[in-house]
Amino acid sequence: MSHAIELPKTDNKQEFYHELALQLGGLLSGEPDAIANAANMASLMYHTLPNVNWVGFYLLKQGELVLGPFHGKPACVRIALGRGVCGTAAQARQSVVVPDVDAFPGHIACDSASRSELVVPLIAGDRLIGVLDLDSPSPARFDEDDRVGCENLAAIYLAASKETL
Ligand code: SME
Repeated sequence: MSHAIELPKTDNKQEFYHELALQLGGLLSGEPDAIANAANMASLMYHTLPNVNWVGFYLLKQGELVLGPFHGKPACVRIALGRGVCGTAAQARQSVVVPDVDAFPGHIACDSASRSELVVPLIAGDRLIGVLDLDSPSPARFDEDDRVGCENLAAIYLAASKETL
């Protein structure tokens, strides 16, 4: 079965994320596989969110973050906890919004086009699963609405996939 992607038609970011959350819920509904769901979620977000050049997952394996399903250019595969924006968000278990990646100490440049970044940790119960990472070619692309919206999308992903995480 194929899934049509609908571009949310609104200039209001909160409404946009609300519509995206409904689409994601439909896309993941009835499917528990964590990798399949991550792949479809990365695709949905990449094709609907304006002005992003990379959307994807890093999954915690044997104590480090390992590249998972994504859309965008090939990226670095392994990131230690505490390193880069992804490792920082994972270690702190908190979302990190970086308006200017060049000003973030230890930022790991995967795609040289990336100017700003948002990383949301994926936490199931009290277990760190990995992170959801979004990059943009524009400075300061991500704000509080994006953080809250993406945290909600991450929660939908975790709820749908929890049996296989
Ligand atoms: N910039 C990230 C690395 C991952 S890529 O952006 C896809 C970081 O500093 O953790």
